[in-house]
Amino acid sequence: MRRTVMAVTIAMVLLVTRTGLAKKDPRKGDLGSELRRAPISVQWLRNPYAGQDPAIRAGKKLYLRHCAGCHGADGRGKEKAPNLSSPTIQSVTPGMLFWFLKNGNLSEGMPAWSRLPDQQLWQIVTFLQTLCPELPNQNASQPIQE
Ligand code: HEC
Repeated sequence: MRRTVMAVTIAMVLLVTRTGLAKKDPRKGDLGSELRRAPISVQWLRNPYAGQDPAIRAGKKLYLRHCAGCHGADGRGKEKAPNLSSPTIQSVTPGMLFWFLKNGNLSEGMPAWSRLPDQQLWQIVTFLQTLCPELPNQNASQPIQE
């Protein structure tokens, strides 16, 4: 009897959590929610170029070519896509950004960039992490221009 009660309780708890999750579809503007879905295995990947100037420069070029059309030349977002200099985006690990760029979030309008080589993705990540001037220990953010 105890066992049945236990099993039923567990089943109910599972049901409630599952339906809860199913309802929480990632809304537009729910910034960072996709990034936080990155698997643990990639979250702590090391960025081989962290803080390196040549990578920041290369990343900036790639950003202007591939991303600025939607996220704005200064990375602060446009009507099409969110602000990438926001503290929410700036507080995630490089591995989470890398993973998100590779996978995108097509249903919400963010393309996947898996066709770019890993090296270029890391360069973009390196550049993205210079975008928040308020955070300490970041490379000084310069105005973005061609
Ligand atoms: C076609 C327009 C478009 C292009 C091009 C684009 N993005 Fe996005 N991006 C979006 C949209 C729309 C979202 C919001 C998606 C969402 O709600 O998850 C987004 C979200 C993001 C996010 C935040 C994810 C989150 O969890 O909120 C990051 C980081 C990002 N883009 C980086 C980039 C980078 C870097 C590039 C260039 C390699 C790029 N994007 C190119 C449209 C675009």
